[in-house]
Amino acid sequence: MCGIVGYVGTNPVLDILLDGLEQLEYRGYDSSGVAIKTESAINVYKAVGKLKNLREALKPYISDISASTIGIGHIRWATHGAPTIVNAHPHTCNCGNLVVVHNGIIENYKELKLKLEKQGCVFRSQTDTETVAHLVAQKYAQTKDLTKAVHLATKEIEGAYALEIMHNDEPNKLVITKRNAPLIIGVSEDGYYAASDIPAFIKHTNKAIYLSDNQVATITPDSLKIEDINGCEISPKVEQLPWEPVALSKMGYKHYMLKEIHEQPDVIRNILVGKLHTSDSPIELNEVKLTKETLKNLNRIQVIACGTSLHAAMVGKYLIEDFCGIPVDVEASSEYIYRKTVTDEHTLVIGVSQSGETADTLTAIKQAKARGSHILIITNRPDSAMAREADSLLSVNAGIEVSVAATKSYIAQLTSFYLLALYMAEIKGTVESDKLKHIKSEMLSLPQKIEQILSSKSEIQACARKYSGTKDFIYIARGLNYPTALEGALKLKEISYINATGYPAGELKHGPIAMLDETMPVLSILMNGSVYEKILSNSEEAKARNARMIALTNSSNDKLKDLFDYIIKVPDVDETLSPIIAIIPLQLIAYYIAEFLGKDVDQPRNLAKSVTVE
Ligand code: M6R
Repeated sequence: MCGIVGYVGTNPVLDILLDGLEQLEYRGYDSSGVAIKTESAINVYKAVGKLKNLREALKPYISDISASTIGIGHIRWATHGAPTIVNAHPHTCNCGNLVVVHNGIIENYKELKLKLEKQGCVFRSQTDTETVAHLVAQKYAQTKDLTKAVHLATKEIEGAYALEIMHNDEPNKLVITKRNAPLIIGVSEDGYYAASDIPAFIKHTNKAIYLSDNQVATITPDSLKIEDINGCEISPKVEQLPWEPVALSKMGYKHYMLKEIHEQPDVIRNILVGKLHTSDSPIELNEVKLTKETLKNLNRIQVIACGTSLHAAMVGKYLIEDFCGIPVDVEASSEYIYRKTVTDEHTLVIGVSQSGETADTLTAIKQAKARGSHILIITNRPDSAMAREADSLLSVNAGIEVSVAATKSYIAQLTSFYLLALYMAEIKGTVESDKLKHIKSEMLSLPQKIEQILSSKSEIQACARKYSGTKDFIYIARGLNYPTALEGALKLKEISYINATGYPAGELKHGPIAMLDETMPVLSILMNGSVYEKILSNSEEAKARNARMIALTNSSNDKLKDLFDYIIKVPDVDETLSPIIAIIPLQLIAYYIAEFLGKDVDQPRNLAKSVTVE
């Protein structure tokens, strides 16, 4: 959460910072601010709410700062203190000479604050970050060297941070450092960029340096020096980023979410290239670094994830247990890390994360790694902190996902789980070859089937409109599609704020059925296969309580018309692969309801794309 960006170079800094922050808005949008170095001082400007408010607030001052070429900026997802101007970054020391922007959490800020207050510092905000401003300023008073001051201060700070710091007495300098939070340096002929994520500077350069934990970088317009925790200089590795600025455009769609939903057929195609050639050829998954012998003998798998990634993990459990007969536990990372989990070198631990940054999952992965487990990471960000912990890295390559609500990354995670489960089944010989062939052939046909759904999206739009006035929504399913019900409900909750819940259909009568009446929509995910009849019975039970029944189905059974008020028809698919097909209309329903209600689809309230705090 929170995004930071900085620039030191020869070009005017203001637009660089504002454009960079706009690209980081997915990380939070409670407030924003910039600090710009002018000839005489460092000027700080802040605004509450979205970035457009800061742009507006800056208008009267443009002429004062338009020539400046050094500055830092911040976009906030509030953790310590309400989203107010006082709590917005950048924060300053008491004399205003030192400014800092921060992403992360300073865990010992209370102790530091008490100590600093005793030494005369006056705190204005409720943030943890302000302690950094006072602490570094204090060290600066002793050393008269900003780099040294940052080294000394970070020795006293506990927690996670990416920091960018400027001091008025060292006018051409930006000092940055990080621990357990991302910070990347963009390198160009016109200067250096420093940001929480690549989109902040990709339109200026595709050369970057990934700063490692505890390194301190000192940047001027024409120099970059990186030191390790002991102050020893290290030579940076400049990497070429495989990114195109065009990935950050809406390409004519009204929202990123709609664009990303439409990208899903290609996301699947991209993942399958090189891994699944034909229904006759074996799955190639060179990314899995476990020996075939170890894979054969695995007796336990744990999958840890949060939110949408957790739902993908739940589908993964069904697949691996079904195809390979290996017991799989799936757990929310935030639960996993605060109990005595039984993990050892014989357990394969799979971490799933779109961003690769989610703090809970990262901590869980580190704990499992320390206990000797092989760590397999499924992520959309091969450059992330989580990816760096991986023994095996399955990079899902869905392309950047801008909308806070995850869609294409979910499809990519699901596809990766299918490949993994099939790969393991082939090694273990646990699935008959005819069945394997059939599933592979069905997988290859998924992109066209999704395209078919997308081409008839106007019917789903009409359904969404019909139910957009509801306050509550229930999704029911069984087996493999129970996670689909959870994910469909999560999508609706996130972007429309409607109280939506997913239930295993068989659980309805154990409590939730009490809520049903003629106002409650119940959407049954009714895919042909082993639990079809069971869900049909559960739908009858709901209908008998007058619920407003919607079916999402690939069945052509005429009798459904008597039971359901609305039927969303999807192409036929083998039951095993139905989660990939069934989620598409649910993403669209959530999208169109939110859009119809006029909600901020891509940036829903209270959320952030990367949750880098526990
Ligand atoms: O980046 P991650 O996949 O680790 O993120 C996990 C969740 O925060 C994320 O899936 C969240 O639930 C999304 N907003 C879902 O749309």
